[in-house]
Amino acid sequence: MSSSKERVFVTAATGNIGSGVVRGLIKRGIDTTAYIRDEQKAKDLFKDELNTGHLTVVVGTYSSVDIFTKAIQGHTRLFLLFAASGTRPASMSEIKGTFAKIAFEQGVRQIVDISSAFVSSYGRKGIIGYMHFAAEEKLWTLADENSEERSLVVLRPGSFMSNHFMGDVHHIKDSNKIVSCGLPSSTMTWIDTKDISDCAVIVLSESVEKHDRNVYEMGSETLSNEQRAAVFTKVLGKPIIYEQQSMEDFYKTHISFGMSHSFVYNFALASSKNICETTTPEIALIIGRPLRTLEHWVRENIKSFE
Ligand SMILES: NC(=O)c1ccc[n+]([C@@H]2O[C@H](COP(=O)([O-])OP(=O)(O)OC[C@H]3O[C@@H](n4cnc5c(N)ncnc54)[C@H](OP(=O)(O)O)[C@@H]3O)[C@@H](O)[C@H]2O)c1
Repeated sequence: MSSSKERVFVTAATGNIGSGVVRGLIKRGIDTTAYIRDEQKAKDLFKDELNTGHLTVVVGTYSSVDIFTKAIQGHTRLFLLFAASGTRPASMSEIKGTFAKIAFEQGVRQIVDISSAFVSSYGRKGIIGYMHFAAEEKLWTLADENSEERSLVVLRPGSFMSNHFMGDVHHIKDSNKIVSCGLPSSTMTWIDTKDISDCAVIVLSESVEKHDRNVYEMGSETLSNEQRAAVFTKVLGKPIIYEQQSMEDFYKTHISFGMSHSFVYNFALASSKNICETTTPEIALIIGRPLRTLEHWVRENIKSFE
């Protein structure tokens, strides 16, 4: 890659995946712009990276289209991630469509989009599938309007290991159990967000042609609820059990935490039908190492669960 000529624009740059993307690009000496809404958070997160002279920070949101339009000028690649809770289901496709259209018109040659494995396994079924499916459709249409100059790469990850920081962490710490409404034998395929960031960094730093129009699904390990509890048992050195609650209790509890009907319903669906159809060991061909296991992840985050 002619890294000196490339400039990468990273949305959601202070998030889990976005911050990993920024760090990875800077490590490779690639000029990078972090699009963030909280300047102080960015300064704290990227102290070292800001000292390299390769990182620029732009303050803006998904609604500040004027700021985005000005800031994206001069960039060759865009990392696109939309995560805003409480928005209308159509917001994801509207915002990604708007940002991608502007970016391509301003000369961006490659967009790397974070979608979801739900698109492969569920299509539009479930609100998360709908949101990502609709957004992908807009991006593919925009890219195909000028296939010579517009490249699109879509990453479709499975369930994030970091989801354990939401409800599970409290159950594990307070009562040595994982609680959900799936059968003990129901499976879910997990992925570490570090692997997603690393994959995005490779795609954003290799030739645009190499990855053009690939959809990369990402799933490291498929574990039943019982197997997941066993991983926590092994790493924490104390018995963690899986407890199946009724669908009604699951629904009521999550609604009481302020989640919308559509999201809770989606999670209830996913409790009996996995988000991924298979694991994806082939991602090692891109990132040059195997995907990280849940055991790696729990060991790295053990303090949060003790
Ligand atoms: N969780 C899963 O299992 C899973 C599976 C597959 C796909 N996904 C997808 O992965 C994405 C989540 O990625 P992530 O974990 O990296 O997200 P995250 O850590 O929650 O980060 C979200 C980022 O978006 C920024 N943001 C939120 N609202 C914004 C707004 N209105 N304007 C500008 N920026 C805003 C946040 O800024 P602040 O830092 O200032 O808050 C943060 O940088 C979602 O699209 C989700 O659907 C998730």
